Amino acid sequence: MGKTITEKVLDDHLVEGELTPGEEIGIEIDQVLTQDTTGTMVWLQFEALGLDEVQTELAAQYCDHQTYQFDFKNTDDHRFLRSAAGTYGAHFSRPGNGICHNVHKENFAAPGKTLLGSDSHTPTPGGLGQLAIGAGGLDITVAMGGGAYYVDMPEVVNIRLEGELGEWATAKDVILELLRRLSVKGGVGKVFEYTGPGVETLSVPERTTITNMGTELGATSSIFPTDERTKEWLDEVGRPEDYVDLQPDDDAEYAEEIVVDLSEIEPMIAEPSMPDNVVPVREAAGQSVEQVMIGSCTNGAYEDILPAAKMLEGREVNKKTEMIIAPASKQASEMLAREGWTAELMAAGVNFSEATCGACIGIGHVPGSDTVSLRTFNRNFEGRSGIEDDSVYLCSPEVATAAAIKGEIIDPRDLADELGDLEDPGFELGTDYDQHDADLIAPDEAVDDELVKGPNIGDVPLKDPLESNLEGEVLLRMGDNITTDHIIPATSDILKFRSNVPKLSEFTLSRVDESFAQRALDADGGFLVAGENYGQGSSREHAALCPMYLGVEGVLAQSFARIHKANLFNFGLVPLTIDEDDYERIEQGDDVQIVDDVGAGVRSGQEEFAFRVNDEWEGTAHLDASEREREILAAGGKLSWTKQQAQDG
Ligand code: F3S
Repeated sequence: MGKTITEKVLDDHLVEGELTPGEEIGIEIDQVLTQDTTGTMVWLQFEALGLDEVQTELAAQYCDHQTYQFDFKNTDDHRFLRSAAGTYGAHFSRPGNGICHNVHKENFAAPGKTLLGSDSHTPTPGGLGQLAIGAGGLDITVAMGGGAYYVDMPEVVNIRLEGELGEWATAKDVILELLRRLSVKGGVGKVFEYTGPGVETLSVPERTTITNMGTELGATSSIFPTDERTKEWLDEVGRPEDYVDLQPDDDAEYAEEIVVDLSEIEPMIAEPSMPDNVVPVREAAGQSVEQVMIGSCTNGAYEDILPAAKMLEGREVNKKTEMIIAPASKQASEMLAREGWTAELMAAGVNFSEATCGACIGIGHVPGSDTVSLRTFNRNFEGRSGIEDDSVYLCSPEVATAAAIKGEIIDPRDLADELGDLEDPGFELGTDYDQHDADLIAPDEAVDDELVKGPNIGDVPLKDPLESNLEGEVLLRMGDNITTDHIIPATSDILKFRSNVPKLSEFTLSRVDESFAQRALDADGGFLVAGENYGQGSSREHAALCPMYLGVEGVLAQSFARIHKANLFNFGLVPLTIDEDDYERIEQGDDVQIVDDVGAGVRSGQEEFAFRVNDEWEGTAHLDASEREREILAAGGKLSWTKQQAQDG
């Protein structure tokens, strides 16, 4: 039987298991990336492993989420990260150099290689044929130490692209259309592999917009084949030697096929506050817009900003709207400046930000209360912009710019009709990539050779091995789709404590219940209860680490998001699934006791665990875990397990 692209790359890197969907496989990792919010813990854990040097072909540390140095804590984090990269042999990208996915794409991403990143949008370079997966920081630590990455073999879904995008339709609209059809859960346990005649009509930056937002579908990864367009991109960024040919076999078998006719795609918009809340722009038209932002790892590239610049040539941003551009890399900023576009945009009334994630996680440019903000980003979860009653819409740069001109949401086709002289800027690949590298420090240029730890850099908390009895109070009962932003918000006032777990833990689930952290500490152990898709969103391992620090022993949920579930194992929290009836019966404050010997059951492969609630009724919880995940849980988490493995030789 022929192979899909995904199977070919996985086969080349397979160290354990078989490529059977649902079975756990271990793969070798060629490249790793980490960013500042997850990176400090990655390097503290790497230090705890006791290794001298990164073992992967390439490791890169980016500073992109919290680049503003509000106080010494962020600056100390950045210094620590630079020192860790230098000490252990990773590339270091300075704060302000850009968002990890974009800088990685421009400088290192390579077809046919595996990439593991401690950020959920790591699959971005799938657009150029790299098999890239987002994971928890501890998985990155282990991969950097030369360990395999374990993941359930995903189903491979064929997204067959036909036709060609029409006027004003963009790659962003393609992925929004998929979100409309499939929802934020539509990709769980899957890799989306793009094929068909429509592929060659899309350039690499367009493809990476699509693969980037495969994350919003919940997909393990997304990948395109390689072709002339891939070569064209690698030539432009000065790395033609990285090209390899990657095609599915003619008789490759896919779990499913979804056809997208690009010629039928029209401008789309995701309404507040979920990325799958997608409608045609015309259905949302007419609403007054106070803020427009172009940026993020989805649509912050040079090729995303250029259309806005062309649309605004000779025009101005509407007086009632504020428009901000946050380029995704300093490379993009530099190209726009050299070509004169920055001055044009400024003259039109646009404000520029440094190249950072920033506003995507509520750091800077927080919208006004109860106002509409149109953003080219990938997520619009409630409160993520930095204000609880936000109203964030997600769209393409073209739709965002049309709104900035009109001062309200409008389909750019209608704006073009209205203005008479507004043309679709189309897509244009940047040709001026000169590999901006002043802000990238290669391992052989390292400025530090030992770790520099300021007072805000704490230790890594460890959990004891799993005991026999698991009993405690239901500390919090939550609904469906609880995100990692709910568990640990990523706003600036909180993120600065990412290297200081005791302090950061005070904010755990504070957006759901302000008293949670103190109650959890007082209760000395307990459970969280949630509905479907618990832990969706970012790869933030603090969302498992902080509950662990507060004494949470396990989570009873109807289902879990993939990366968060892995993080729960990694930090020794037992993730148990329960059915809807039991979920409906359990209440906050109930006393839950797992009837069976949990320690022994986890070790022996037991899948069903009876639990008793308030000594009144019994339910059944399910533990879906591989042998290795069970060993990790039993050891009290992955760090303890990895050390134990190393000691056992
Ligand atoms: Fe950064 Fe937002 Fe992407 S936080 S990595 S721009 S999803």
